[in-house]
Amino acid sequence: MIELCYTLTDDLSYEESYQNYLSLISDLQAVFIKIILNQFVVPDCMEGFANKIYHNHKQFLEFIIGTKVKNQIQAKQAVDTAILGTALAQRMDLSLYSVSKIIEAALLHDVGMLYVPKTVVNKPANLGSQDLQYILSHPLQTSRFITKELRCFDDVAAITMQHHEAWNGTGYPHRLSGPETFIEARIIAVADAFAAMISERPYRKPMPGHIAVQHLLSGIKTKFDPAVVKHFVQAIGMYPIGSLVELTNGDTARVVEYITEASGLKPRVRIIDSPRNDLLKDRTPVDLLDKKGIFVKKGSENNQEILMDLIHDL
Ligand SMILES: [Fe+2]
Repeated sequence: MIELCYTLTDDLSYEESYQNYLSLISDLQAVFIKIILNQFVVPDCMEGFANKIYHNHKQFLEFIIGTKVKNQIQAKQAVDTAILGTALAQRMDLSLYSVSKIIEAALLHDVGMLYVPKTVVNKPANLGSQDLQYILSHPLQTSRFITKELRCFDDVAAITMQHHEAWNGTGYPHRLSGPETFIEARIIAVADAFAAMISERPYRKPMPGHIAVQHLLSGIKTKFDPAVVKHFVQAIGMYPIGSLVELTNGDTARVVEYITEASGLKPRVRIIDSPRNDLLKDRTPVDLLDKKGIFVKKGSENNQEILMDLIHDL
């Protein structure tokens, strides 16, 4: 059976959506700064964020790959995890209650990392035992913060506690395995891993979307629930929505939509670089299903840089 995947917005609301996405990130970062400064955080402050993500996640999905933010890396990753988690949960037909818990937990899941010294967070490798202690305790710190400071989020706290558990039982903090963890936590684990890989870090460049998908696939049965990864790839594609790709005719394009599950190498794309310059004036998406012999050849190596130029051009 053919199912529709996500349809991205092609009208004038496109730019406004991008501004809304950036505002969400900066507003969440403001909440994180309050937490770092030990200031009062309104217990139900996540509701506004959750509503915006629930109603706009299909448009926001396009912005996850390629958006760079200064000093807001943690907020971007939390927002991206919530957007991806929503897409995944809807794809898996989870209840509205589960979706809302996933969004709230995704937004707050790494609050515990706010208590970890920046020198440790920004270390690429060679963590000492004290550093490791900080990292390994962050799910507990998150859970404690939600329970004590936000009070009304007990189920969300339980989900965040499990976001680093692994399918084969080698995760932390409780070494739970398989379905011992909540499905909401397994969804956040996959969405969070993808959001982290495609994000920039002080010590590394962002990973292209299709490489991040390959890493998720290689973590099936060890780190991640195989069913969740399968649904994730079906939801956003092997060349994820927002990715830059090289086509067999030499054009560079950005993936904007997968019309059907069977359209794997033939998504709808916007042509952004072509030997035939006349095409570049029109950014109307092209459906590769209608173009005989033209399909995705490979992911573009210059994914991030090209996409940023594109977004700021709109
Ligand atoms: Fe985490």
